[in-house]
Amino acid sequence: MGGDRVEPFEQLIAKEVHRRHGLATIHATAALELALRALGVGPDDLVITQSNTFIAPINAISYLGAKPIFLDVDKDTLGMSPNALADFLQKECHLQDKALHHTPTGQRIRACLPVHALGLPARMPELVALCNAHQLPVVEDAAEALGSGWIIDDRFHPCGSFGTWSVISFNANKIITTGSGGMLLGDDEKAMASTRHLAKIAKIAHPYRSAFDEVGYNFAMPNLNAAIGLAQHQKLDAIQASKKALAQAYDRIFCDFDGASLIQAPPQAVYNHWILGALFDRPEHAKDFIEKTREKGVLTRPLWQPIHQAIPYQSAPRGDLAHTEWLADRVVQLPSWPVLSG
Ligand SMILES: Cc1ncc(COP(=O)(O)O)c(C=O)c1O
Repeated sequence: MGGDRVEPFEQLIAKEVHRRHGLATIHATAALELALRALGVGPDDLVITQSNTFIAPINAISYLGAKPIFLDVDKDTLGMSPNALADFLQKECHLQDKALHHTPTGQRIRACLPVHALGLPARMPELVALCNAHQLPVVEDAAEALGSGWIIDDRFHPCGSFGTWSVISFNANKIITTGSGGMLLGDDEKAMASTRHLAKIAKIAHPYRSAFDEVGYNFAMPNLNAAIGLAQHQKLDAIQASKKALAQAYDRIFCDFDGASLIQAPPQAVYNHWILGALFDRPEHAKDFIEKTREKGVLTRPLWQPIHQAIPYQSAPRGDLAHTEWLADRVVQLPSWPVLSG
């Protein structure tokens, strides 16, 4: 856990996403678990989230003994829908002693966890405003969204800057990688200090004695990975420029394509083009396109299986997930890693 590369890497990424503090972890799933735990998520609690996501954030909820409630996403951002959230908060939740509860079950709702899917920014300003009005902290899963964000009043607000806590991943397929790695980001110095302690096996600081004051985690990023992260960060601009050029090339192809278009971020959103996706009008054409392109060695694939359909989560509570299922049948993930020159 020692070494001098971790802190500079934490500072660099925290600055990148306009945060005061960063805690580098062995992967982003660990950072998500730490964020939820810092908010007091525990057995029998509920966490509002989305089903259109990679499974990691949902598993992080489960590791703590809590349950996800799946809400629908917007068709254009692929992220949690503010309308679905507003509706759910109004119809199915109530505040009791300043804490949000799920009216049908009486369970405590501890957090809201929206995900920036494929790197497309979810509507965070609206989501955070709704959560603030209901005393609900936000864990922003920006695992895929380094470099994405929203332009508000001419200012760039990066993904990762919105939630009470936010998380970025540096696993091998992300915009920049540390081999495996993640980062927890936040502004609260005290909460970050106690979370850092927990992530470093809760060892009481001492030059040579080995003593512990909590059941901690071995979640801190090794120095070697942070060194890779620092080197990778130097390439971030070039990687983003090449991904943008790839998106433009795909766009030229899909312009002339009947029945499908390249997924674009909404106006005012900045998209890091982490994974480029095509949206097909008809599910059978999306399926056919995947089969035909794969026959030719082009590694297309569908969007993730919606997590409410995954075996461990089939009985999890949910709202109407019409958009989630609509997208799952129509979005095709395109090969998105451009060859960098030099
Ligand atoms: C949306 C999302 N959240 C969380 C994770 C977990 O990241 P990691 O693999 O670093 O644990 C990933 C990715 O891999 C992801 O895509």
